[in-house]
Amino acid sequence: MSAPEFTHRLDREGTASEKYDLRERLFGRLDVLPMWVADQDLPTPDFVIEAMQKRLQHPILGYVETPKTAYQAVIDWHRQKGLEIEADEILWTHNVANGFMLAVQALTEPGEAVLVQTPVYPPFRQAPELNDRRLVEAPLTLDKGRYYIDFERFEQLVVEHKVAAFLFCHPQNPSGRVWTRPELETLADICLRHRVWIISDEIHSDLVFEPHQHLPMASLSNEVAQQTVTLSSPGKTFNLGGLQIGYALVANPRLRQVFKRVLKRNAIHDLNLFALVALEAAYSQAGRDYMARLQAHLTVNLDRLEAFFGLYWPRVRVMRPQASFLVWLDFSQVFASHEAIQRFLVDKARLGLNDGLSFGEPGRGFARMNLAVPTETLDQALKQLRQALEAH
Ligand SMILES: Cc1ncc(COP(=O)(O)O)c(C=O)c1O
Repeated sequence: MSAPEFTHRLDREGTASEKYDLRERLFGRLDVLPMWVADQDLPTPDFVIEAMQKRLQHPILGYVETPKTAYQAVIDWHRQKGLEIEADEILWTHNVANGFMLAVQALTEPGEAVLVQTPVYPPFRQAPELNDRRLVEAPLTLDKGRYYIDFERFEQLVVEHKVAAFLFCHPQNPSGRVWTRPELETLADICLRHRVWIISDEIHSDLVFEPHQHLPMASLSNEVAQQTVTLSSPGKTFNLGGLQIGYALVANPRLRQVFKRVLKRNAIHDLNLFALVALEAAYSQAGRDYMARLQAHLTVNLDRLEAFFGLYWPRVRVMRPQASFLVWLDFSQVFASHEAIQRFLVDKARLGLNDGLSFGEPGRGFARMNLAVPTETLDQALKQLRQALEAH
């Protein structure tokens, strides 16, 4: 049985919610059930809200000086994942996407190449061009419903384009793939040999399903840590996307100097006040206990989705995530064209999912579904899908 916090649907109308307010613009109609952008339709945990309410009892919301306790919270959080860091390695950013844009600026020069593995979170593909760098795409290999890395191709592209930085999605969005130690070691080896900086976005690394285990890239060795900038945030796990929380972990002192200059040039030095309060509340024992409950709920949702497709639409391949709450659905055996997928989902099933092609060309034939929803919302989504299938 799910806890009540995970069962009931909350109305998000009038709360300036991207997921809801962009329905008409993205899907051409208001009556879609939105299951796209990666925030949760679940309440941000009560202990985080309470910490913010407590801070609001003081009527002055002046400038922030980040307390040592916030640094300690980040240190402890990453220690439990097997990454040892020190306070001066933590550089605050204004969210994780902000972190990788700044990292691209800090680690590479205009005109240099930045490599990403596709399909991938859309801003990864935009980051190089927006910063006057060159985008190099190394497509992941799909084998029996899972993505793998073609290391030979990866290295070839690194050499051919003289890649300066590798923007790594770890765990992977949209597929929820958790990279294994041998995979990480091979990637790190290539990057070290060719002097490629690793920008490791680990925002999806908290909610990892057994038996999979997240291994921070920078934890592999001191050499790898010196070559890596790790980016993270409690934003995904604790549903704090609206607070713009992020940080970079930079072990290499020379790199840290360069990164700090870029931050300074952009006047970025601390989290905002509520981001700070929320981060400390989330990165706590209460946060760890909450994660276990959230994971149990997500497991039930994933089981139900798999069972649904198994029973009613087995030709759709469900890529069950090894981490986080996004599900990559392969419709390529079902529809003759990519466009037909969204037409069916939006116009027949009234569901608003991410279009697979926004993750790059390998996303053709796919859509991404966000399962961080209460039971009632999943009930509704499955009902709509079933009705659309019956009428199809
Ligand atoms: C891999 C990855 N990085 C970054 C983000 C965005 O995080 P933020 O809101 O902290 O910029 C997302 C959001 O979906 C993501 O999937």
